[in-house]
Amino acid sequence: MQVMNAPTASGGCMRRHEILFTLGDVLLSLGVYLQPAMPLKIIVVGSGGREHALVEACLKSSEVATVVALPGNGGMRQVVECVDISVTDIDAIVDYAKGFAADLVICGPEVPLSLGLADALDAEGIPVFGPKEHGARLEASKAFCKDFLQRHAVPTAAYQTFSDLDAALGYLDSQSFPLVIKASGLAAGKGVIIAEDRATAEQTLCEMLSGDAFGESGKTVVIEEFMTGEEASLHLIVSDGNYLIMPMSQDHKRIGEGDTGLNTGGMGAYAPTGAVNNQMMEQIEREIIAPTMAGFAADQMPYRGTLYIGLMLTPSGPKVVEFNVRFGDPETQVLLPMIDTDIVPILNAAARGEPLPDRLPIKDGFSMVVVLAAGGYPGSYAKGDPITFPESLPKNAFVYHAGTELGTDGRIVTSGGRVLGVTGFGTDIQSAASAAYAACDEILWKGKTLRRDIGHRELKRGC
Ligand code: AMP
Ligand code: GLY
Repeated sequence: MQVMNAPTASGGCMRRHEILFTLGDVLLSLGVYLQPAMPLKIIVVGSGGREHALVEACLKSSEVATVVALPGNGGMRQVVECVDISVTDIDAIVDYAKGFAADLVICGPEVPLSLGLADALDAEGIPVFGPKEHGARLEASKAFCKDFLQRHAVPTAAYQTFSDLDAALGYLDSQSFPLVIKASGLAAGKGVIIAEDRATAEQTLCEMLSGDAFGESGKTVVIEEFMTGEEASLHLIVSDGNYLIMPMSQDHKRIGEGDTGLNTGGMGAYAPTGAVNNQMMEQIEREIIAPTMAGFAADQMPYRGTLYIGLMLTPSGPKVVEFNVRFGDPETQVLLPMIDTDIVPILNAAARGEPLPDRLPIKDGFSMVVVLAAGGYPGSYAKGDPITFPESLPKNAFVYHAGTELGTDGRIVTSGGRVLGVTGFGTDIQSAASAAYAACDEILWKGKTLRRDIGHRELKRGC
């Protein structure tokens, strides 16, 4: 080989490693990803629809040897080994990952990350797609997140943080209503109250700060200005200073049609959304993403994993509602099917803090997920109901399992509130909806509940 003596642009000679480095750069800049030498052994942590979508993406990858889910669910059990380890048992996950000789751990939910899963695995030399505890605090502590946003001049609602009831009540004197009161800690999506009047605000503050409402999570509260506008979710895949942008999505958190009734984990989602045009996207990159990445560097918070930015598109521009440190559920079930490349090498590079390709190839078209829930959800609901699936799914539809179990007789039964996510893909939002709902109608069990109006805003926009 001539590489030892190859001439450089500056007229000198490059050594072998310089040539290899340059070739790698060229390939990366062309969007060609370097293949790892050995197929990967991957652990997916979690048990919901998001994790089932991640498992399916891994199974499609030519770079994956084995996938194991901890603890998984009935649907995942049909396609990969599932091991019954709780997502909060960090020691057990680490022991399992060492014994399995995992090359990569992809963490679905936020709780293990906030308990230091990535730190513990990193100490054993196992790369994790998901931030360390410091980064995970952006979701685990709304007070920490708001301070980060303020410190780095990222647009967000004006706020104050309180742990003392009298101080919080006194602050109400200077505020107008509605006012938003948030339990600072993790509260399974239930810790945000929009107080329409002072009496509601006082009662909420008393219940949260006493620990009655959300335990320790409510003993610090963030009181913030009420923002108006449409909401949208932006997912970034972050590898230290590098990031890739996934399609902008929107979800439906309420149980009832017309976005009414109680909050849920999410009853459906779709992407992309016309709520954000190219000009607004540029504004988001400039005013929100750039200072956030600079903030990670300034705060010495190396960040590897998904950054899910909850946005409010206010009349005075896009503002951050919240940061989540993991993929959304059910957004993942619409985003992953839209990615037009093998996602595994990208997640693996992010987990290792390596450079990412210049851009993420995205399919043309629209994707929608409709959640099939158990009757009664988000209140109490039955478990153990057998589900009947059609022999084959309608074209362009995929089913992701969330609250299911695989019975000993091989039948899938319900085991949670959100049972399945049914994703449809189409050239426009209407055909994505038609594909999803056609499949939803062929899946049957006693008490099946769904919203029939997922994507109503997008459908009205006439995309
Ligand atoms: P969070 O857990 O912070 O994302 O809040 C949950 C939901 O509460 C959001 O998706 C919004 O619908 C609503 N929300 C949170 N903060 C605000 C705010 N400052 N103004 C208006 N609505 C808000
Ligand atoms: N779909 C909302 C979330 O994952 O937080």
